[in-house]
Amino acid sequence: MKEQLATIRQQALSALEAAGSAQELEALRVQYLGKKGELTSVLKMMGKLSPEERPAMGQLANSVREALETAIEERGRVLEAQALEQRLKDEALDITIPGKPVKIGHRHPMYIALDELKEIFIGMGFTVLDGPEVELASYNFDKLNAGEGHPSRDWSDTFYFDTDSRVMLRSQTSPMQVRAMETMPLPIRIIAPGRVYRKDEVDATHSPMFHQVEGMVIDKNVTMADLKGTLNMMVEKLYGKGTQTRFRPHHFPFTEPSCEMDVQCHKCGGVGCPTCKGEGWIELLGAGMIHPRVLEMSGIDPEVYSGWAFGIGLERTAMRQFKIADLRLIFENDVRFLEQF
Ligand code: DAH
Repeated sequence: MKEQLATIRQQALSALEAAGSAQELEALRVQYLGKKGELTSVLKMMGKLSPEERPAMGQLANSVREALETAIEERGRVLEAQALEQRLKDEALDITIPGKPVKIGHRHPMYIALDELKEIFIGMGFTVLDGPEVELASYNFDKLNAGEGHPSRDWSDTFYFDTDSRVMLRSQTSPMQVRAMETMPLPIRIIAPGRVYRKDEVDATHSPMFHQVEGMVIDKNVTMADLKGTLNMMVEKLYGKGTQTRFRPHHFPFTEPSCEMDVQCHKCGGVGCPTCKGEGWIELLGAGMIHPRVLEMSGIDPEVYSGWAFGIGLERTAMRQFKIADLRLIFENDVRFLEQF
């Protein structure tokens, strides 16, 4: 029996040492220490020994069991560590491989120009308003003093949704004047940028969709001097101190008096060149004192309040600022173009 135990010990220990996986290890545990295991069957024969032999043999058997248990535990730990190492190796990431570059977008030149305008006017206490592009003709025309029969309402110029010309794509941001007057408490200082639509063929200077920024101030004792002062300030911030402007009389149905403002050509300084088509001046915007009838229609007493308004084309402003020759470039979204700004 002594030899048997010694053989089991030796064989088991070398088998355990060679076990290559957790499953093999478990199979060996069952083979030696399980209910029908080799060591167990030897222990079962202890009953046949004489009482004198029993204690020594019992001790020996126990020491073999302990040795096997320890060996199983140790081998288990080694195998576990090996398995972990293998997994780390298999799942290893090479963090030195260069990543996929993230493409960072560019601000669109027109929005650069818009942000600059917003900043100028926010700095003067103006609020920026957003409004509907699908607009009622009553807001786009009637409440702006362009009644039935006014040439700007013509079907050939305007995108109407219905046959009785009541719903349309706004042809100007000026309806935002009315929406502001109807909803905001006085005094009012707003700008309202956004898309406008007209039936124009696409070419280097025209597009059926373009952007305007509307501006409006209503308060007591507001005069044309305030309009000129504010617009001159805007021009100096956009084009530099000392930039000359001139105001020409014009006609808009919703302002009286009305004017257009030109800036002196930045290219030739007013002498005349191809940029300003020999004029020395470049038209920038339309403006004027809000017509008393427009104030009245929106529930504001023209005897107490007065105001001014202007409308500026955003594409043209950006084209001038960034020396862009063709309007179509602004809308084509060619990354090579956008990357330049
Ligand atoms: N809405 C005009 C246009 O599209 C521009 C304009 C002119 C706006 C005079 C105004 C203004 O607010 O006072 O041509």
